[in-house]
Amino acid sequence: MADPFDFERPQRYAVMGNPVAHSKSPEIHQQFARQFGHRIEYLAIQVDPGGFPQAVEQFRAAGGSGLNVTVPFKLDAFRLADRRSDRAEAAGAVNTLKFETDGGIFGDNTDGIGLVHDVELNLGVALKDKQVLILGAGGAVRGVLGPMLKHNPAKVVIANRTAAKARDVADGFSGQGTIEVCTFDNLRGKHFDVVINGTSSSLQNELPPLPETLYARDALAYDMMYGDRPTPFMEWSALHNAARVSDGLGMLVEQAAESYFVWRGVRPDTKAVIADLRRT
Ligand code: ATR
Repeated sequence: MADPFDFERPQRYAVMGNPVAHSKSPEIHQQFARQFGHRIEYLAIQVDPGGFPQAVEQFRAAGGSGLNVTVPFKLDAFRLADRRSDRAEAAGAVNTLKFETDGGIFGDNTDGIGLVHDVELNLGVALKDKQVLILGAGGAVRGVLGPMLKHNPAKVVIANRTAAKARDVADGFSGQGTIEVCTFDNLRGKHFDVVINGTSSSLQNELPPLPETLYARDALAYDMMYGDRPTPFMEWSALHNAARVSDGLGMLVEQAAESYFVWRGVRPDTKAVIADLRRT
């Protein structure tokens, strides 16, 4: 095995997913490394369905130090890790693997803290005492609920097409804060300070059916997705009184920064990297 303390040798990392060719993670992590004068190699590796454990073992045998894991392998990564952080346990998914010197594999989930850092630190919106609405009840939402609840919003409502799925997600976080669940129809007449789109609707260029009066004064609309153009949710929110609208690019950079911290014990400056990605 490669000597993990030989920092002259570039440390090797990668993101594994499918698809992964257009991932911004290699560029983000190279920018982080430059901030510290670290030399790293960071690859984007497309993995075939069913091939995740073998791909990880191969990467580790080739001297890899850690991995980011994206769709559709976050559950496989969870299963593969033999030690997991509390936030990974709560999320039921792992997006960061670290190969330990004793041969173990540590699994973490940095998505939730990535979202919270972007909303609170970059966008300047404190979640404390806010009425928060989360759209969707899939893996993406389960991944961010725990860290959000730690910031003491007044209430979190999870709205989903399938209410039973929302109930299921909420039950996993009972005792950690006030969570209500509903379908999109039940949102009529309610107002929110922060609305987070955690559905995969943006991928299909669609929008969940939301009432036009959804936004309270000075509200933030946040889409966990990002792309070259504003998503349908972002466009709709801007037209329906959201004071601020954001895509999830900042969350992507923030979750990457937290992964970098897990691997290397230092926190990169994220603002410069976000600004750079917005320019290009
Ligand atoms: P992910 O891991 O990205 O969260 P997922 O587990 O498949 O993906 O969950 C997708 C979420 O987006 C679900 O909450 C889904 O709603 P259902 O549970 O009712 O299926 C939601 N979703 C997907 N497309 C949607 C659309 N066009 N409008 C509203 N919700 C949508």
